[in-house]
Amino acid sequence: MEYQNIYIEEENNIATITIDRPKKLNALNKRTITELHDAFKELDGDKNIKVIIITGSGEKAFVAGADISEFAHFSVEEGGLLAAKGQEMLFSFVENLGTPVIAAVNGFALGGGLELAMSAHFRVASDNARMGLPEVSLGVIPGYGGTQRLPQLVGKGRAMEMVMTAGMINADKALSYGLVNYVVGPEELLPLCQKLAGKISNNSSVAIAHAIKAVNAGYSYDTDGYATEIDAFGACFGTQDFKEGTTAFLEKRKADFPGS
Ligand code: COA
Repeated sequence: MEYQNIYIEEENNIATITIDRPKKLNALNKRTITELHDAFKELDGDKNIKVIIITGSGEKAFVAGADISEFAHFSVEEGGLLAAKGQEMLFSFVENLGTPVIAAVNGFALGGGLELAMSAHFRVASDNARMGLPEVSLGVIPGYGGTQRLPQLVGKGRAMEMVMTAGMINADKALSYGLVNYVVGPEELLPLCQKLAGKISNNSSVAIAHAIKAVNAGYSYDTDGYATEIDAFGACFGTQDFKEGTTAFLEKRKADFPGS
């Protein structure tokens, strides 16, 4: 697929996906969701890509939500389908990706935008970022996993307040809530994400994929996190990365992971 609403840059085994509809504050329309799905899938299948950073173009927004103009006239069935397809194609897909995903939140992250940031494995924000789930102000609720992931990240009471008030929180509050891991000036946002990605990419990507699966299993009602951890731990012992990691340690040298 030729990308119109996103672009991808690759450097030092790190891919950065930028959502590029700045005039619409990078709102997620159907095409953008499809493009993001394809991009994440393609990059996850590329052995040279160790970490993916997702951000928005322009200075104003990460993503200001799902594109309201596309669903304003939807029926009950169409609404349900919108949430189901979106969760499957993008939000759950990103959360369960084996390649680590960092959200670089560079401005408004509202509705589907915050939901996308919360699907990433962790978040870094610029100090002008504003985050919220304004759906109830539109007569709807978060449908891309927001009612589940926000309480996981900030606790039930704070999530309930954010959802019910439809209000926005600033970057410092998001930091104090544990919604983002760092807050920096806009010009430092991507460099910090790249630095963190660089640290991650020194480690075994195979082990990291197993770790993501084990952590996520504990947040799913139909999987046992502890049992998943045991299986994943055992599976690591059959990998080249494990042989290289342990051998390098014993030989007092830096590991050079083959990624298998
Ligand atoms: N869906 C569709 N279009 C959107 C959008 C969204 N979620 N968010 C912003 N846009 C569009 C606006 O309609 C406007 O388009 P136009 O220039 O063609 O009229 C453009 O992006 C710029 O937005 P604007 O509202 O003029 O910017 P602002 O600085 O005055 O306000 C926000 C910024 C983020 C507060 C405001 O755009 C907003 O409330 N957006 C919707 C947020 C939301 O409810 N998201 C959840 C959706 S479920």
